[in-house]
Amino acid sequence: MSEYRIAVIVGSLRRDSFNRKLAGGLMRLGPPDFSFHDVQIGDLPLYNQDDDASQAPPVKRLKAEIGAASGLLFVTPEYNRSIPGVLKNAIDNASRPYGQSAWAGKPAGVLGISVGAVGTAVAQQHLRTILAYLDVPTLGQPEVFIQMKDGLFEADGSIGAASRKFLQGWMDRYAAWIRKHAD
Ligand SMILES: Cc1cc2nc3c(=O)[nH]c(=O)nc-3n(C[C@H](O)[C@H](O)[C@H](O)COP(=O)(O)O)c2cc1C
Repeated sequence: MSEYRIAVIVGSLRRDSFNRKLAGGLMRLGPPDFSFHDVQIGDLPLYNQDDDASQAPPVKRLKAEIGAASGLLFVTPEYNRSIPGVLKNAIDNASRPYGQSAWAGKPAGVLGISVGAVGTAVAQQHLRTILAYLDVPTLGQPEVFIQMKDGLFEADGSIGAASRKFLQGWMDRYAAWIRKHAD
């Protein structure tokens, strides 16, 4: 049975999202005692502080999924040199009401893939700033900034040979870090 439950939050709603593919490829590299669970963010309401006292069912679901997780895995595109609005909306929704944030203390990995050469570096820095405020420790190294290239993904969704060793190394370090936090 999986001992460590990881909530996977993908910052793109696009059907053929590269970030979703990257998340899927990474999940295959996880150790046997880890289970990965996709967190749906596309059906959340736009955050409105008036709703804090009676949060909508999708917000409650999101908070319960985060609450049940031993760790978080953010895989996000960069939109206009920051994180996509859908991801910020999810973060805001689960951070409230004040004092009842679902995020606090959950260790997180942050990765991303873009078509641009900067490989989501700016978006990841913005995300790390937001997560620091929310008391979410983030794995610092190795950083993962990926530019989409042919051969990155195999037809079955696994990570292609050229990047597999690097991403396996990332996953091994992430898993060890999550275990340390859980102790
Ligand atoms: C609104 C918008 C803004 C974008 N801004 C950036 C950007 O700032 N940096 C970048 O590298 N790519 C940018 N892109 C290109 C994305 O890297 C590309 O669309 C990528 O496929 C998005 O990730 P996804 O495949 O997971 O949806 C942008 C795309 C969109 C739709």
